[in-house]
Formats: sequence, C-alpha cells, structure tokens
Amino acid sequence: MAIKPVLKMGDPRLLQVAKPVIEFNTNELNTLIQDMQDTMKSLEGAGLAAPQIGVDLQVVIFEIEKNSRYPDAEEIPFTVLINPKLTPLTEETEQDWEGCLSVPGMRGMVPRITKLRYQGVDQQGQTIDHSVDGFHARVVQHECDHLQGILYPMRITDFKNFGYTEVLFPEKEVIDE
Ligand code: NI
Repeated sequence: MAIKPVLKMGDPRLLQVAKPVIEFNTNELNTLIQDMQDTMKSLEGAGLAAPQIGVDLQVVIFEIEKNSRYPDAEEIPFTVLINPKLTPLTEETEQDWEGCLSVPGMRGMVPRITKLRYQGVDQQGQTIDHSVDGFHARVVQHECDHLQGILYPMRITDFKNFGYTEVLFPEKEVIDE
C-alpha cells in the first residue's frame, strides 16, 4: 500500500503510448493496482491511469461512490481495466466539464462520445465487456486517453471553456479524473 506522487502535465511520461500488460495476477501488478487505488482515494479522484504514477502500462482504475458531496454523480463500481479497447456505439458527442489529477486546479469542457463499449481484462486476466453511457462513458474515455498519451486539454474545442476550478466553480466541489 502506497500513495504515489501523480505526474503533472508537462511531464513527457504523460505523453507516451502505454505498453500492454502481458502477465496477470502477479505481485507486481497487484501492487501497482493497490498503489493506484490508494493514490486515487487519497486525492478523492474518480479515476487514475498507471502512466499518471509513472508506470508505462495499460492499466486504468475508476470508481464513483454515491455520497452527499457529489449528489448528481452517477455511481460507478470500482473497476480495474487493463489493455482496454473502446468501441463507440453512437456518433453522438456531448460537451461536459472534466478535471484531471495531472492538471490540478483546472477544468475544461471536453466533447466525448455518449455511448460506448469497453473491453479488456481485470488483474486476474478475466474478460471485461461493458456497454455504458453518460458520465460512465466519459470517465472511461478520459482514463483510456491517458494510455494513448492524451490529456483532456488536448481535446478541448473551445478554450473559452477552460479555466481555474476556483474561478469557474467557486461554490462547488468537483471531481478529478
Ligand atoms: Ni486524468
């Protein structure tokens, strides 16, 4: 168990295409996932990708717990997704605010596909195959982008909708991904 430092935008390690995991249920992989979970929880994030803690592997985690701080957020069970493949199930996109633990203190409006299928495996190598929409689909796209070296500001289409969280949302608590 360890909370790791999260790399911030500007670090070239965030711009790499991550490597696939080839061995499952190893101590190394289980430790990585535990560290990612500890780190995400300590920062109250909704998701984290391995490259954000400097590990060049295709591993993401995400979770949204229902609680009073985020009454509008849709609940997402804790998920470990390895070697993901995303398939859009619509051409429709939607703009909404995103934040990122690697871009602290900022928010931007990002267009995302509204419905998609994600496939991959968990840490035991068991198949994962889910179709999701809305905020869940957004979180999956955000996290999987990290594995391609893409940070959400690179997807912003109108920079008028990019700024400091404390200025944009002075009253509100918000979630980082
Ligand atoms: Ni992020």
